[in-house]
Amino acid sequence: VIRITVRPRRPPEPAYEIRIGRGLVPRISVDLRRRRLASRYVIVTDSHLQRQGDGLLAAFRRRGLAADLIAFPAGEESKSRRVRDELEDGIIRLGAGRDTALVALGGGVVGDLTGFVAATFTRGIPYVQVPTTLIGMVDAAIGGKTGINHPAGKNLIGAFHHPVAVYADVDHLRTLPERHFNSGMAEVIKCGAIADRGLFEFLEGHAARVARRDPETMARLIEACCRIKARVVGADPREASRRKILNFGHTIGHALEVLTGFRLAHGEAVAIGMAVEARLAARAGLLAEGAAERVAALPPLFGLPVALPPGIDPQAVLEVARRDKKTRAGRIACALPLRIGAMASRGGDYGIPVDDALVLEALREARAARPRPRRLIAPAGL
Ligand SMILES: NC(=O)c1ccc[n+]([C@@H]2O[C@H](COP(=O)([O-])OP(=O)(O)OC[C@H]3O[C@@H](n4cnc5c(N)ncnc54)[C@H](O)[C@@H]3O)[C@@H](O)[C@H]2O)c1
Ligand SMILES: [Zn+2]
Repeated sequence: VIRITVRPRRPPEPAYEIRIGRGLVPRISVDLRRRRLASRYVIVTDSHLQRQGDGLLAAFRRRGLAADLIAFPAGEESKSRRVRDELEDGIIRLGAGRDTALVALGGGVVGDLTGFVAATFTRGIPYVQVPTTLIGMVDAAIGGKTGINHPAGKNLIGAFHHPVAVYADVDHLRTLPERHFNSGMAEVIKCGAIADRGLFEFLEGHAARVARRDPETMARLIEACCRIKARVVGADPREASRRKILNFGHTIGHALEVLTGFRLAHGEAVAIGMAVEARLAARAGLLAEGAAERVAALPPLFGLPVALPPGIDPQAVLEVARRDKKTRAGRIACALPLRIGAMASRGGDYGIPVDDALVLEALREARAARPRPRRLIAPAGL
């Protein structure tokens, strides 16, 4: 089992550990019992994870912990005020009070919603993250951002509240649908591109091993990503700008999500975004041309797109990206790589303003890109 300590600065909450490995489920109840964290637990999960939820609940009860389970319908639509209300009603009905802790078993939807309820119920109770998706393990479960959606926008209502522990059990990845797995791989590629050259090169050489979700390989990848996120979360407030490096691929990616009505999975949009922003970095004289092509060549090895979806107009992408908050005096600001594994900064700021003309050129280049014929991902089982 790999352990990583996170020391949150915003808000300054107690340090907590991320544990990464296999077969962690029995361990969770043992740890919580030893820590005397709460006198009762409510496990929160979604309708696709009933079996895993029942297993965790049984493990808690075997250890003599008072525990219950609440499951809500799977899907982003559940990150809503209505389901938040239902969850609050549910835990109150189960007798929850200040002495209760929540356990979020699921992907980012379960984690964000459960964390938000934990942040606000009696002004804050502890919660544990048990991410079951790759996005959850490398991103959503770490960093203390919790929240729900509002009809006016995603993640519009939320709070910072860090978990007291994170258990990333790679065995959960076995049942994750392929599109969700691949989407998570976009964030792993991002971590390599922004801060870990060794990780990036490992991905270039081992796509087949990743595709069959080899547990040791996956644990290594998750560890590398968690170390990067833990470093950013624990960074001195004076270095606050450094967290912008996590936005690589997201300025263009988010505009594409909006323009396609969220039909692209988040990771698919980020993959295209990284290819575009890497070429943008090359045009801005930051990243070498060859390195930009390596960034654009990696996502397709993991079933991810890098070309603009048909019918998406570069000018429209630019307009939506500009409406985003990341603009500097009318120019778009992006997190741009300087080399593979290192991001560019100007005067300590990692949001680099770029001219519209360069953005349009990089977008047009992505429109022209044809998917490469070579296929390096071996079918599972080979
Ligand atoms: N808080 C943060 O910092 C942060 C960071 C990134 C993303 N997010 C949020 O996370 C959400 C996306 O998270 P996600 O991609 O994990 O989506 P998700 O939680 O919707 O899970 C994806 C799907 O996979 C199913 N599933 C989960 N684990 C499974 C498993 N082991 N086997 C089989 N099926 C499984 C779920 O039921 C769901 O249908 C978004 O709402 C996003 O805003 C938050
Ligand atoms: Zn993301």
